[in-house]
Amino acid sequence: MRRRYVFLTSNGHKFREAEELFIEEGLALEWRRGSYPEIQGDTLEEVAMAAAKALEEGVFIEDSGLFIDALKGFPGVYSSYILKTIGNEGILRLMEGVEDRGARFESVVAYRGRDEVKIFKGVVRGNISPSIRGSAGFGYDPIFIPEGHARTFAEDYAIKKKISHRVKSIKMLIRYLKEM
Ligand code: IMP
Repeated sequence: MRRRYVFLTSNGHKFREAEELFIEEGLALEWRRGSYPEIQGDTLEEVAMAAAKALEEGVFIEDSGLFIDALKGFPGVYSSYILKTIGNEGILRLMEGVEDRGARFESVVAYRGRDEVKIFKGVVRGNISPSIRGSAGFGYDPIFIPEGHARTFAEDYAIKKKISHRVKSIKMLIRYLKEM
């Protein structure tokens, strides 16, 4: 019998990024459109783990964020709220005159197995761009330039699909599911 995997998220971009990787591996992925209660935690792992405990077997969630070195990891676990309030313009304003542009995206997948929650974490390092550039992707993609590249994720979505934090965490999940 074919197993059923379900991604619980309200974000269609996240779902499509994950679905593509599942399809490449010959697995089907169902989209459950919805949100889950998020506790106020210090790390993405804490937030994702707490939420995944309430899920049924075969369902996973993904919590992600942008962590800027010069801002001591801000917006981090507050990424969603900060994007909604000050947005990419606000982040660039906070970074005005700041030389160290280093940042990372983190993606934490929490998969509810039969007896436990499994956590998979993907990270991609890069730099905050001096301006908002590109229209592909979503969220902070227009201000994030991955390490070793010159264009933002929103300008070069093909690169995002190869090396992003989410590609890494979802691939780890798929490897785990295939080995089960
Ligand atoms: P959450 O995991 O849905 O709470 O997302 C946290 C915030 O980070 C949201 O505002 C997202 O738009 C943003 N975000 C998450 N993943 C990405 C990404 O791959 N690119 C750009 N922004 C992202």
